[in-house]
Amino acid sequence: MNDMTVPSPDQATRVPPPAPLGMLAELTHRCPLSCPYCSNPVELDKRSGELDTETWKRVFSEAASMGVLHLHLSGGEPTARKDIVELTAHAVKVGLYTNLITSGIGVQREKLEELADAGLDHVQLSIQDALPDNADKIAGLKGAHEKKRVFAGWVLELGLPLTINAVIHRGNIENIEALVSMALEFGARRVEIAHSQYYGWALENREMLMPTREQVMRAAATVDRLREELEGKLVIDAVVPDYYARRPKPCVGGWGKQSLNVTPQGKVLPCHAAETIEHLQFDYVTEKSLSEIWTNGSAFEAYRGTSWMKEPCTSCPRKEIDFGGCRCQALAITGDPRNADPACSLSPFHAKITSLAMKAAAKDGTDYIYRRFGAKPGQARVEITRNNAPV
Ligand code: SF4
Ligand code: FES
Repeated sequence: MNDMTVPSPDQATRVPPPAPLGMLAELTHRCPLSCPYCSNPVELDKRSGELDTETWKRVFSEAASMGVLHLHLSGGEPTARKDIVELTAHAVKVGLYTNLITSGIGVQREKLEELADAGLDHVQLSIQDALPDNADKIAGLKGAHEKKRVFAGWVLELGLPLTINAVIHRGNIENIEALVSMALEFGARRVEIAHSQYYGWALENREMLMPTREQVMRAAATVDRLREELEGKLVIDAVVPDYYARRPKPCVGGWGKQSLNVTPQGKVLPCHAAETIEHLQFDYVTEKSLSEIWTNGSAFEAYRGTSWMKEPCTSCPRKEIDFGGCRCQALAITGDPRNADPACSLSPFHAKITSLAMKAAAKDGTDYIYRRFGAKPGQARVEITRNNAPV
């Protein structure tokens, strides 16, 4: 062993973290849609910087070797990659459970058949609303809704399990029952009714997306009723809106605990919004192994566990349950990622998040700032006929 490989006393005694359960592979940020709540960063990765096929395959092999079980093939629109079938086949070969997270737009039936033949395990299809015109407005693309209906039919015909994902906000919150009916009609086994989380593009659009507290309460009652009525037919998962919560969610299951994201350029993130935390330094799969990054990467170490916490989290009995909530939301609202997530009623900033929610909900516009390449905050308004084309 030479000097370079002698571990520091800290490293020698530190127990390595357990392997992540899931990996989100953002294969590309290219997407035919421009949803205003997109979880991609406001600065999107360009096509020219995307990882090549062989590098993604190596990353999938490394993920499987380190114990990752679920691979979420995401984007942008993952099928915009010409090598999507080859990548999926490789992921299946190395033993990963593959979930394609897609808009269903721009995918031909032949491509879906090839993906099914390659062993794809599951399809997760986003829908924007049950009302076609409004769905197209939210997606930023005319005709998108009808294409999704056709795509869902192919998924069913090919025997692939289908989950419908609907992001909920002021523009569709009154249509939850119709959205769930659509999921049933599409033949889905599961539907996710996920209130918008306010990071990235959704934070830019907070005033256009935020529902009122009353709408959120009614929506929760509708979901409870539908769950009872549809038990055994359809599983309904619900993600509650942080801004009206009393306790935060354990964001990403705890920082550096259960999952990791790899961006189109190969940057490895603990969560999709981690790049908003400016002091963090991220590693690339082109420079280090995935396992090394997960185990020792400084961005993962920064908020792993509980030792970084401040009060009220430090002495809170829930600190091992929710891990202080979301670091990115703590930063966005309080200015310090080490603070308790202000969604927590014990946070001294809780009144601020409530007031932000009420102020945003009091606006009534839906003049969305659409997600697109090259947009700067506040400059991204586009017509809905515009295709969010790759650059
Ligand atoms: Fe979670 Fe911190 Fe609130 Fe306790 S004080 S519930 S650990 S966010
Ligand atoms: Fe980053 Fe919640 S989105 S920790």
